[in-house]
Amino acid sequence: MLFIFCSDNSWLTKFLFLTYSNFEFCKNRSVQSMNRLENSVAVITGGAAGIGKASVEKFVAEGAKVAIWDVNETAGKSLENAYPDQTIFIKVDTSDPESVENATKKTLDKFGTIDVLINNAGITRDATIKKMTYEQWNQVIGINLTGVFNCVKAISPIMIANQRGRIINTSSVVGLYGNFGQTNYAATKSGVIGMSKTLAKELGKYGITVNAVAPGFIATDMVRAMPQKVIDMMESKTPLGRLGEPADIANAYTFLASQEASFISGSVLSVDGAVTL
Ligand SMILES: NC(=O)c1ccc[n+]([C@@H]2O[C@H](COP(=O)([O-])OP(=O)(O)OC[C@H]3O[C@@H](n4cnc5c(N)ncnc54)[C@H](O)[C@@H]3O)[C@@H](O)[C@H]2O)c1
Repeated sequence: MLFIFCSDNSWLTKFLFLTYSNFEFCKNRSVQSMNRLENSVAVITGGAAGIGKASVEKFVAEGAKVAIWDVNETAGKSLENAYPDQTIFIKVDTSDPESVENATKKTLDKFGTIDVLINNAGITRDATIKKMTYEQWNQVIGINLTGVFNCVKAISPIMIANQRGRIINTSSVVGLYGNFGQTNYAATKSGVIGMSKTLAKELGKYGITVNAVAPGFIATDMVRAMPQKVIDMMESKTPLGRLGEPADIANAYTFLASQEASFISGSVLSVDGAVTL
């Protein structure tokens, strides 16, 4: 316990207070669990690393069974081994409809149904428009946009039959305001918002909610791969003064998948430390 006495209302006092309260808050941010997802079966694409991995851990802590869909077999298997009773790892390339169909069947064989789909898998292949190749364009469209379509196409019939379901699609702040060197990525992340709103309209009558989450700059391998000066710039542009943690996004997915969010559909939840303001 830290106790500092300052008799005035100085900046030092405010700084120490804010630092301490942030520390206490951050310590607790990822550990709360209230069984909010008990009896739910979730598919989390890109679940082997980064935001996806934090989400698998959070969903398990909240009582869900989770199918980890990812191309990364080593990381996926190791996460499955950490939670053998609550998870299954399935190697799947979400850009390939056949692979997604097979993974859907395997998930049903293991858990019997699917209640929540988190379309979290995503990649970047950055270059300015002058240098961007068709290959870079097509790879990003294939995974970030067609991948979402493939998973919704395969899993929504199960949700329609159940007359309930939650679909959460991962967009990005870049989908809201664009970003230098990311024509392909920004197009997919804006596209995901359009898809989510349209799906919310189409699937609402079946008791299915569809929402998008737009993360800001989150400390995962995707961001750590960037030059340090870019990371410093991201932090300085974020009013909260830091990168987000994967758990910040996992918490938003959890809320949207929970009963508490049953009347929220067609929305875009920014989880970005106010960077878009
Ligand atoms: N990190 C950020 O700052 C940030 C910001 C905004 C949005 N996002 C979005 O959040 C999501 C997760 O990002 P992250 O930072 O955790 O990335 P990450 O690179 O750490 O993890 C992505 C995961 O997706 C998997 N994956 C890649 N292609 C796949 C495919 N075809 N099929 C199945 N799995 C595949 C990877 O193997 C990896 O496990 C992405 O959609 C990303 O665009 C991230």
